[in-house]
Amino acid sequence: MSGLEVRGLQVAFGEREVLHGVDLTVEPGAITGLVGESGSGKSLTALAALGLLPRGARVNGGEILLDGKLLVAQRVDAAGSVRGSGIAMIFQSPRAALDPLLRAGRQVERVLRRRGMSRWDASERMLSLLSSLGMQDARQVARLYPHELSGGMCQRVVIAMAIASEPRVLLADEPTTALDVTVQAEILDLLDELRERTGMGTLLISHDLSVVAERCSVMSVMREGRIVDHGQTADVLRNPQQPFTADLVRDLLVTS
Ligand SMILES: Nc1ncnc2c1ncn2[C@@H]1O[C@H](COP(=O)(O)OP(=O)(O)OP(=O)(O)O)[C@@H](O)[C@H]1O
Ligand SMILES: [Mg+2]
Repeated sequence: MSGLEVRGLQVAFGEREVLHGVDLTVEPGAITGLVGESGSGKSLTALAALGLLPRGARVNGGEILLDGKLLVAQRVDAAGSVRGSGIAMIFQSPRAALDPLLRAGRQVERVLRRRGMSRWDASERMLSLLSSLGMQDARQVARLYPHELSGGMCQRVVIAMAIASEPRVLLADEPTTALDVTVQAEILDLLDELRERTGMGTLLISHDLSVVAERCSVMSVMREGRIVDHGQTADVLRNPQQPFTADLVRDLLVTS
């Protein structure tokens, strides 16, 4: 199968297992939603796929495949490097993902240079990436340091870095949580447009069911380290299989 497949993933911090056999699929050209309460294991699942589990965490079981190729086998140490493997991630806190001492443009260029681009080409490509992400004055933004950027701008720079590597799968961990509603919609439109244009598969992690309901064709619901509901988004919302999902859907109906 093509795309990203997580099968039976178990992750533990020491003796404490926090992911108890997670199954998740991100198909090319589709946006898969992953929702669940705080601490349910959404970020850990994505980090495991990238080989970037936090210190002290290890994969105890299961496997992760990209286009049918094994990425993280059982008992492979958490720090295994799968970067440059075709998966990119937008981290939950964009500002923290940026180097505070480096101008925004340089950080995007650095990703491109690592892919073997010349300084000149990287600079041109960086500017066109920032422009394509809705920055009117990309040249000026590129010269700013992270602390000089608004939340929305920070998020765009982080997205530019993620897509600079032309990933086949993008893991977007709460890409819009810190942003106001208008900017949130703009960023989600961007991701949608990218998916359409490049056929990139996207995992959209959110605790906000309304975002997932609107943007994702398929969705999974996570709770306490397990996937408790999964399917076509419309089906999951219409006919939740778990009391937990039914509660989420009820909350959504109340607040919208
Ligand atoms: N560095 C760490 N050390 C110990 N336990 C951790 C660490 N990071 C995460 N955990 C534990 O793993 C579980 C899953 O965490 P994770 O960050 O994946 O949750 P999440 O679903 O992304 O939550 P949120 O919606 O708040 O981002 C939690 O119970 C958390 O306590
Ligand atoms: Mg998280």
